[in-house]
Amino acid sequence: MMTMRAMGIADDTGALAPCDVPKPTKVNSEVLVRVVAAGVNPIDSKTRAGRGLTPAITSWPAVLGFDFSGVVVESPYEAHPLKPGTEVFGMTAFPRSCGSYAEYVSVSTLSVARKPRSLSHLEAAAVPLAALTAWGMVVDIAKAHEGQRVLIHAGSGGVGHFAVQFAAYFGAHVIATGSTRNVGWLPELGAAQVIDHTQARFEDEAGTVDVVIDLVGNVHDDTGTRSLSVLRPGGLLINAPTGSWPTVLDDAIEAGVRATTYKVAPDGQALNVICRLLDSGDIHVNVDRVFELVDAAAAHTLLDEGHTRGKIVLRVTDE
Ligand SMILES: NC(=O)c1ccc[n+]([C@@H]2O[C@H](COP(=O)([O-])OP(=O)(O)OC[C@H]3O[C@@H](n4cnc5c(N)ncnc54)[C@H](OP(=O)(O)O)[C@@H]3O)[C@@H](O)[C@H]2O)c1
Repeated sequence: MMTMRAMGIADDTGALAPCDVPKPTKVNSEVLVRVVAAGVNPIDSKTRAGRGLTPAITSWPAVLGFDFSGVVVESPYEAHPLKPGTEVFGMTAFPRSCGSYAEYVSVSTLSVARKPRSLSHLEAAAVPLAALTAWGMVVDIAKAHEGQRVLIHAGSGGVGHFAVQFAAYFGAHVIATGSTRNVGWLPELGAAQVIDHTQARFEDEAGTVDVVIDLVGNVHDDTGTRSLSVLRPGGLLINAPTGSWPTVLDDAIEAGVRATTYKVAPDGQALNVICRLLDSGDIHVNVDRVFELVDAAAAHTLLDEGHTRGKIVLRVTDE
């Protein structure tokens, strides 16, 4: 059996270590991709620590990772447009299949798109999960538009920096929270108002809003619960750290507002649209730090500090 180099967790004790695992076999309409870079997301870290998706893992070692950018090495069939050599980016189906902290992934063609021409693989790997989450919350659900007032918590993080840009692109009035070092950066992304969450309570500064994009939940300072008070009657809160606030729906009803949780899914078509916005320069991706694949544990340590500006990426092979 052919094997490949990867970073995985040997069991559910939380240690991320190099491992050799079977190289995936492409089936049916999948593409086999040689991974050049892999993005790091909080869900990877939560799973490594025994939370997140750990209960769904059925075999060990488990290779983590959703985001990848790389090169097609096997297409579904000869005439398929994603020919060998095509540069693509996308999301894996972890934990149903091997993750992207590995030399190869085999994924549905519906989960990938051509890599933005203007981005390196290291930049492109930072995009899929975070940008698709932001797109789902801001565009698909909130339907961002001119005149809409949107409060975005954690506007400088992986999801947040895309959410701020998408909401501003569609004309919304964006109010973003971030810490002191990001107060100057968030307006560059399109925030009309920035609230330094280390200096002020956002309820005192935000005014009334139509939508809250909640990327903090009740992980810190009851941010989610407190957000209900800034929504207009009937306004909408969309919560991403779903495990942190199990009573979100009941709490919203009691406050006279609407709420929904959100779960991202691989979506090649939406990635194609996001790709065009990246190549046109209308939105940008910010890569905060790049680590070598073998240093994935250090990448998780940095992510766990909770102050990433944009994204952390792993270099898997040379471009
Ligand atoms: N349900 C889903 O499908 C889904 C998808 C993606 C992500 N998520 C979840 O959504 C959350 C955000 O994900 P992410 O990838 O954006 O995480 P991330 O990149 O690690 O977010 C870090 C950001 O959080 C900000 N932050 C920390 N404490 C804050 C506070 N009290 N108020 C405002 N901002 C604060 C930091 O900004 P400062 O340094 O400026 O404080 C930092 O920029 C995570 O819990 C993740 O698991 C869920």
